[in-house]
Amino acid sequence: MNRTPRYTTTAIALHWVIAILIFSLVPLGLYMTGLPLSVLKIRLFAWHKWLGLTVLALALVRLAWRAGHAPPPLPGTIPAWQRAIATGLHHLLYLLMFIIPLTGWATSSAAGVQVVWWGVLPLPNLLAKNEALAHILGNVHSLLNDGLIALVALHVAAALKHHVIDRDGVLARMLPFLHQE
Ligand code: HEM
Ligand code: HEM
Repeated sequence: MNRTPRYTTTAIALHWVIAILIFSLVPLGLYMTGLPLSVLKIRLFAWHKWLGLTVLALALVRLAWRAGHAPPPLPGTIPAWQRAIATGLHHLLYLLMFIIPLTGWATSSAAGVQVVWWGVLPLPNLLAKNEALAHILGNVHSLLNDGLIALVALHVAAALKHHVIDRDGVLARMLPFLHQE
């Protein structure tokens, strides 16, 4: 029996922790921005920023780990064009894991709100206070999130297609409890 080759445990753990954080951050971001000014809104903004910067920190660890650990080979049945699309999509997802938190941080800085990570670590402001720029950066952060949602939807659809239709073990590479030949 050929066991499905998998990503390393570290790569799998980082993938899923970041995925869970992103699946929490998007609805949290959409919800909090619609609230009227209140203590709840201020608290949720703080949590959003702390969790978002946690994604940035984990993405750095993930990239460093990835640099030293190549993914396991894909099944030979996957055509070259599909491999190329998957690689491009993964690159874009990596890019968004960095620029979305950075644009959020820059928005907060331009709005004149310093982030104190988890209430204990004061982070430097990336930019001087500038309300007009904060507005633009907030819109950029929001647009990039629209892109992320679309790409993640594509990514999940591809993973499910491989699992349900092709049954080629691609999802099992990233899910430790799945066994597929
Ligand atoms: C991967 C990490 C992150 C994700 C997925 C994310 C997602 C979102 C989403 C979906 C919104 C709502 C956008 C809209 O109204 O259409 C939002 C708003 C916002 N986020 Fe993030 N965010 C992340 C990281 C951060 C970080 C690290 C900060 C700051 C340190 C931050 C600060 C903000 C701010 C200030 C807004 C309000 C923008 C505005 O209304 O102008 N975000 N975020
Ligand atoms: C239910 C949600 C998700 C599923 C089912 C899923 C599934 C997978 C699978 C099966 C792979 C391995 C692909 C391969 O073998 O080449 C993978 C890789 C990857 N996923 Fe996800 N994923 C999900 C969510 C996410 C999210 C939210 C992100 C980040 C925005 C993400 C980013 C990535 C990246 C960057 C890779 C490439 C890893 C590498 O080669 O270093 N995934 N995912």
